[in-house]
Amino acid sequence: MTTPLRLVIQEYAGETTVGMPAPPPLGEVHIWHWAPVCPPSEVDELWNILAENERERAQRYRFPKHRNEFVINRARVRGILARYVAKAPQDLVFEYSPHGKPSLEGVQGWRFNLSHTEGLAALAVVQGREIGIDVERIRPQSDARRIAERFFSVPERQSLQAFSGDALDHAFFRCWTRKECYIKAKGEGLSLPLHQFDVSLGEGEPAMLLSTRPDPKEAEEWVMYDLALKPGYAAALAVSADLSSVSQ
Ligand SMILES: CC(C)(COP(=O)(O)OP(=O)(O)OC[C@H]1O[C@@H](n2cnc3c(N)ncnc32)[C@H](O)[C@@H]1OP(=O)(O)O)[C@@H](O)C(=O)NCCC(=O)NCCS
Repeated sequence: MTTPLRLVIQEYAGETTVGMPAPPPLGEVHIWHWAPVCPPSEVDELWNILAENERERAQRYRFPKHRNEFVINRARVRGILARYVAKAPQDLVFEYSPHGKPSLEGVQGWRFNLSHTEGLAALAVVQGREIGIDVERIRPQSDARRIAERFFSVPERQSLQAFSGDALDHAFFRCWTRKECYIKAKGEGLSLPLHQFDVSLGEGEPAMLLSTRPDPKEAEEWVMYDLALKPGYAAALAVSADLSSVSQ
């Protein structure tokens, strides 16, 4: 049985105040979002906040737009997390799980997760639970059913049959973000088989992990939420009952 959570959604304007030297209170999830754009002079300033390995990664992007987005998003993540640990953004050190999920060195008991898509980025922070977030710009998906064949489970594909046109695009991204946020909360990437769990996707149906295989009990250990962050975008959040309920 999971306890309801309070979601606090805030738009982040880039301020780097070190003002909240504590993680979110138990039972609260902080969701910060921003548009990954800013004037070139500001991108240069944000570059200085990044660690050497992040700058190297930024330099590997072929297109300046993608490089700038990466720099903005990393600097924003640093700016926000710095508030919780009362450190300067450039002093934070990230560690990575075997599948690449970042966490903060020296920080125990609370978690964060980032997602970005064209025009929107979001960071979710919580104490005492695993967390995953996914945001996607809703775009026409002419091959939605073909992609669903590859990524969605049989019950999800059956539910998708009820939709066409714009409604199909919305249902597709509802399903995609709900599946993806769960994968990201578990942190296992695509090593977690996508056909082994079903999410809700019907119009007006609350976001939910409906079933998990082979262990049906796992579905009860997670809560899911849709997030209304920006018109034209789908966003979903998965949070575990507590850290101990998640197999390592
Ligand atoms: C990173 C991953 C988990 C998500 O990728 P994505 O959806 O393209 O990207 P998002 O914008 O939502 O998230 C990216 C962020 O997640 C975080 N991340 C990286 N690896 C992660 C992992 N294993 N678990 C959770 N979060 C991870 C990082 O902060 C990353 O930010 P960065 O790119 O600036 O380093 C990717 O490895 C993956 O597995 N993608 C699966 C895509 C897919 O086919 N999904 C099917 C859904 S039905």
